[in-house]
Amino acid sequence: MSECVSGGADTGPQRVYRPAGEIRTFALRQARMSPAQRRDYERLLGAYGVDFRPEPTDLRAVFPLPQRPLVMEIGFGMGESTAQIAASKPETNYLGVEVYKPGVGKLLGRIESAGLENVRIINHDAVAVLQQMTPDDTLDGVHIFFPDPWPKKKHHKRRLVQPDVVALLRPKVKPGGYVYLVTDWSDYAEQMLEVFSATDGFSNPHGGFAPRQPWRPETSFERKGLTRDHTIHDLWMVRTA
Ligand SMILES: C[S@@+](CC[C@H](N)C(=O)[O-])C[C@H]1O[C@@H](n2cnc3c(N)ncnc32)[C@H](O)[C@@H]1O
Repeated sequence: MSECVSGGADTGPQRVYRPAGEIRTFALRQARMSPAQRRDYERLLGAYGVDFRPEPTDLRAVFPLPQRPLVMEIGFGMGESTAQIAASKPETNYLGVEVYKPGVGKLLGRIESAGLENVRIINHDAVAVLQQMTPDDTLDGVHIFFPDPWPKKKHHKRRLVQPDVVALLRPKVKPGGYVYLVTDWSDYAEQMLEVFSATDGFSNPHGGFAPRQPWRPETSFERKGLTRDHTIHDLWMVRTA
């Protein structure tokens, strides 16, 4: 049995069928866009957005240079890291997946102003994008930076990094590809390490937490965590054959 639920942060045109009772990893908040974000969303989504399709789709083909490595970023927020990393690594294509429309508008504006040819956006639930739209062995890398921590115990089930989501992600990553996760919530960091270590098909070249990659910029979520004296944990997992 399934029910029709919104796939976006507000009730937009994109709707997907999911099993009844399935838990969302994001809050359905009212998305208030600034005038600039709205303008960029309306003006640029056609150029840099990719429509959600509930069927396997060639995600490489949405880029001008499809032969380049493809990295998916899940939950890019306002797209600070996405735009900076994409500018510093023009030889890689970045597919950002985000439900929060103001963030989508913001990143669209950044793509245009920085002239980024290697960034495309899907404004949809990443779990559905993985489940329905992403063929196996597609991704050279996955970035999950500061996913919503859902700190209350009763909400832990809404965390993105869960055994079922990691099992869903595994075949989508090419052998040799990586998953790079960062959080400032220590118990979530432990959960990430535990879930990935328990999932066949991933190895941990660092044994535990990883050093920060020099190309990962500091974002406002990271700065917020640091002002609360949180420790930043990086985790780098590699898909085995
Ligand atoms: C705490 S923010 C971090 C944003 C960004 N990665 C950063 O470091 O600044 C987490 C983001 O993940 C998004 N998100 C959560 N679950 C998602 C899902 N299933 N699909 C797409 N985006 C999701 C939220 O909308 C939110 O913008």
